[in-house]
Amino acid sequence: MKRIVVVSDVQAPFEDKRAVRNVIEFIGDYQPDEVIQIGDLVDYPTPSRWHTGTKIEFENGVLRDSEYTKANFLAPLRAVYDGPVGVLEGNHDERPRKYLASRAPALSAEDTHYRFENLLDFKGFGITKLEPYYQPAPGWVAIHGHESPGLNNVAGRTAAAKAKKAGVSLVMGHTHRLAVSPESTGFGGKLKTIYGFEVGHLMDVKKASYLKGGPANWQKGFGLLYAGKYGATPQAVPVEDDGSFVVEGRRFGEVKRINGRFAK
Ligand SMILES: [Fe+2]
Ligand SMILES: [Fe+2]
Repeated sequence: MKRIVVVSDVQAPFEDKRAVRNVIEFIGDYQPDEVIQIGDLVDYPTPSRWHTGTKIEFENGVLRDSEYTKANFLAPLRAVYDGPVGVLEGNHDERPRKYLASRAPALSAEDTHYRFENLLDFKGFGITKLEPYYQPAPGWVAIHGHESPGLNNVAGRTAAAKAKKAGVSLVMGHTHRLAVSPESTGFGGKLKTIYGFEVGHLMDVKKASYLKGGPANWQKGFGLLYAGKYGATPQAVPVEDDGSFVVEGRRFGEVKRINGRFAK
């Protein structure tokens, strides 16, 4: 069967370094048939509307953060995996493009430099920019999650509501929550089940300044889709506090201790 690894909301440079390193190592080991990153790969705080007029707006951070993401996510991923990689544009990834469109519309129509696929050199890395409602498996679509309104604070229910509207199983990020939420319809013993699947995030919550240290119903993790001829089985993979996780009965990225001390 086809094994697809689904990663979302890395939010570089605010990623959880250990978790990201472990997920990339796992991909190298597991050699899935496809890897999709479904949005908010880069945080791009500089052109955020939340930072208008603050010193962050003047930091010139777009190129800096793009280079950082290439060096710390795309290059390490490509060093261990040369299979198909697709990336969806999230609401954070689109910030430079949107900023230019609203602040310099006379330039934005002709500009290609500030599109995230070019800032991150998708061509050089052999990465495909995916369009929303990309179909990774039969009966499944992938979106980032910001394309249509509606958020539910219960993990999985945002995706389930969007799946129900679209009439297909749906995998998404954006909520930073991790859950598989099924939705069944039918009667008389004939039920059809579709899934809403939210794949969590891989960021370091301490670096999410917009939470201001407060609580958030967020879960670190990623997703797996086991795709067959007629459908796919979703599997949520929670990433624990030490950055490790279990796939198919094996723990990846366990912190090692030698004589009671942390070892590399
Ligand atoms: Fe996000
Ligand atoms: Fe998002």
